[in-house]
Amino acid sequence: MYRFIPELMREAAKIMLSAHDIDNSIDSKSGDANFVTAYDVAVQNFLYKEIGERLPDAVIIGEESDDNHMEALATKVCFIIDPIDGTTNFIHNYRTSAISVGITDGGRVVYGAIYNPYQNLLYFAERGKGAFVEYANGTVTPIRVSERGLHDALACFGTSPYYREELGDITFERAKWLFMNTRDIRRSGSAALDLCTVASGAVDIFFEYRLSPWDFAAGSLIIEEAGGVITQFDGSPVTLDKPCSILAGNKTCHRAAMESGRFN
Ligand code: IPD
Ligand code: CA
Ligand code: CA
Repeated sequence: MYRFIPELMREAAKIMLSAHDIDNSIDSKSGDANFVTAYDVAVQNFLYKEIGERLPDAVIIGEESDDNHMEALATKVCFIIDPIDGTTNFIHNYRTSAISVGITDGGRVVYGAIYNPYQNLLYFAERGKGAFVEYANGTVTPIRVSERGLHDALACFGTSPYYREELGDITFERAKWLFMNTRDIRRSGSAALDLCTVASGAVDIFFEYRLSPWDFAAGSLIIEEAGGVITQFDGSPVTLDKPCSILAGNKTCHRAAMESGRFN
């Protein structure tokens, strides 16, 4: 039913890949390290237009919109869009950014797709049908979380950059604990891609304080359909109508992190 979404995302990604003179297209949103470029806006506008033409009744919630109707999540079909997840990476040409589109129905994510145009990798899941990656050569393969325990895990975390004064110490305390209790730790700069690395078994555990729904809507379903777990730090379900702190991983690592008491 949502087959047209990946095609739209691939089209939208051409806007990202065509980017030039990005430094001169930066605007600062509220707070330090909270950037939007003309490309974030252009990708979002493209997706709004194309989705709106195909599904005029759908509600669209986008990071760069000032008019998000979160109350519609409870009852309507909603698209939750991050036009560029990893904008700081994008500005620095770090080539680790993605477009993320989640679709909810009655408040539950029913479809999610995350497209990394630099590697031409598309991660997607439909509720009840499993999670998959489509490679650059067109091969589609199911993905699965790992079975590693925490001691053997590769951990990954996000730094909540817009809240660094408030959350910097506590974030790095948790990250240090993971570093000391796993094989090693990574920070990619794209929460959407972090969730894909968990879903595909490369990374075993991920956390970040205060992510927004567009950062994790699609990724939450991709993780669950890949056999993983994604919750808030206290183990409660993630919330799509407001920001929340995220702990995601395979079942073993998620349980170990919860039982450590470090994330409460
Ligand atoms: C950000 C990225 C980053 C995470 C931030 C997010 P944006 O999204 O996902 O990895 O640490 O918390 O806000 O602003 O680049 O779309
Ligand atoms: Ca984001
Ligand atoms: Ca974004």
